[in-house]
Amino acid sequence: MDAIEAIRTRRTVKAFAPEPPSREQLAELLELARWAPNHKLTCPWRFRVLGPQSLEALKQVAAAQAAREAPAGADPEVVGAAAAAKLDRAPALVVASVVCGAEPPLDAEDEHAAAIAAYIVLLGAHAVGLAGYWRSPAVLRDAEGLAALDVPEGERVLGLLHLGRAAQALGPAPSRTPADEYVYWLD
Ligand SMILES: Cc1cc2nc3c(=O)[nH]c(=O)nc-3n(C[C@H](O)[C@H](O)[C@H](O)COP(=O)(O)O)c2cc1C
Repeated sequence: MDAIEAIRTRRTVKAFAPEPPSREQLAELLELARWAPNHKLTCPWRFRVLGPQSLEALKQVAAAQAAREAPAGADPEVVGAAAAAKLDRAPALVVASVVCGAEPPLDAEDEHAAAIAAYIVLLGAHAVGLAGYWRSPAVLRDAEGLAALDVPEGERVLGLLHLGRAAQALGPAPSRTPADEYVYWLD
């Protein structure tokens, strides 16, 4: 598959088969990330591949957080269990973050570069027949969630990448804003 086809056909997938990608496959995808453009070659991205213990720790924080914030009338235990179960949807989870704190404008450039690196992981996964999903779960905006994964204060989480084999047929692509609505050709 060439790059243009990969970009056009990658889709967010939320249902995964249980078999995890191999460590080698994940390592290959995460290595691809270092080819993201990044100003001053700061390599600002960080990826944490969750293992069983870190996943369990994150699920516990997610359950407690969701239970605390359960809407009135809902059973906090059920709400918490549902939040934790969402972290079991994919057989491999990777937290993508950026090292922050550089002087402007490098801080913004680093964040852009890290987002590109995360997209490279998703696009690379698609190119090798894996599926991916970039999720921004509330638990990764929670100090306890960050602590469960040893994300230091100097990093900002960009998302939780879900990776694995798709267990759902890819439906039609969601419609996109046509280019003539977001491209301005200046004189
Ligand atoms: C920065 C970022 C954050 C996202 N966060 C979520 C999320 O929290 N929940 C979700 O369902 N999808 C999330 N997505 C996935 C988008 O919803 C998805 O890319 C969009 O629907 C377009 O579908 P596609 O990826 O199949 O093209 C996120 C995507 C990006 C780039």
